[in-house]
Amino acid sequence: NEIEAVLSSMLDAVLVVDCDKNILRQNHAAESLLGIRKEDHGRSLEEVVRNSALLKFAEKALAGEEPTAVELAVVRDREKIFQVHGTLLKDGSGRKLGAVFVLNDITGLKKLERIRSEFVANVSHELRTPITAIKGFVETLKESALQDPENARKFLDILESHTNRLNAIIEDLLMLSRLEQSEESGEIALVETPLKSILESALELNRAKAEEKKISLELDAPEELKAKINSQLIEQAVSNLIDNAVKFSEPGKSVRVRAEPREKEIVITVSDFGPGIPREHIPRIFERFYRVDKGRSRKMGGTGLGLAIVKHIVQLHKGRVCVESAEGKGTKFSIYLSVA
Ligand SMILES: Nc1ncnc2c1ncn2[C@@H]1O[C@H](COP(=O)(O)OP(=O)(O)O)[C@@H](O)[C@H]1O
Ligand SMILES: [Mg+2]
Repeated sequence: NEIEAVLSSMLDAVLVVDCDKNILRQNHAAESLLGIRKEDHGRSLEEVVRNSALLKFAEKALAGEEPTAVELAVVRDREKIFQVHGTLLKDGSGRKLGAVFVLNDITGLKKLERIRSEFVANVSHELRTPITAIKGFVETLKESALQDPENARKFLDILESHTNRLNAIIEDLLMLSRLEQSEESGEIALVETPLKSILESALELNRAKAEEKKISLELDAPEELKAKINSQLIEQAVSNLIDNAVKFSEPGKSVRVRAEPREKEIVITVSDFGPGIPREHIPRIFERFYRVDKGRSRKMGGTGLGLAIVKHIVQLHKGRVCVESAEGKGTKFSIYLSVA
């Protein structure tokens, strides 16, 4: 019948019990979620369902007049979080027949919520470090150091570096939020562009730092190679990868940027011969603020957002970014762009 069809096509689990908590009806979703079998029809909920939080909630819903809601965890193959709504079931004359429960899977939502609040906590923490330092040095300058020009100069340099750091974090956060907005709206102009000049300018942005560390930069890309890209963004992504390669490599090493066509794709690689990334960290390095060595990254002016930005830029191009790394040998990042 129609009701049966509606119930069984619902993704939410629906469970109906009478006033004595005997199961009157359950849909497919409820069966697989709570481990109820077809033949459990008519049996008491207490015999069938092991979830004590749900049983307690059922009691409360049957006792009260108002619809109630609760969040509860159900562990079967893996833990899932459900929002459960309970409503009294009444006949036409208002006589209580039992209760209806609807269980709505909010595991994904909960995960997003957690990611969001972790992100806010991380941002606050990252901002607080330079701000605390700035406050401290301003205080010292006001109290005494102004009379001591040599120290004052040193403190001002430190203040400058922390201010730059704050600025870098804010710039990267704004960049990420702009990228996310473009991802949502889907509006980004991709234009057929020669790649080599883009890679050259990405290298140029890192030239001074590389020279300072005596790191040689190499480029290998065919003149005629073109890709449908937003050139500013691809330049930024490649520059972020080169920045890391230069930053983490020992002086005297080289960093290679390469572009080549490969089947229906174009691959841009940035390789270095630096320390590599320990295997256990690789799955997480594209997360915001994730760093193998926080102290070291900060000292070198990193915000921990560079690779997150790369990931978003590549996503906007419907491409993918991969990393291969061997500890002590080096790291290779590859950006794959599809040729339209
Ligand atoms: N080429 C590389 N060699 C070694 N480690 C790297 C390399 N690129 C990235 N990493 C690791 O990934 C982390 C995240 O990179 P990123 O998001 O650019 O942050 P940041 O450069 O600000 O530290 C770095 O802190 C570092 O631990
Ligand atoms: Mg970086």
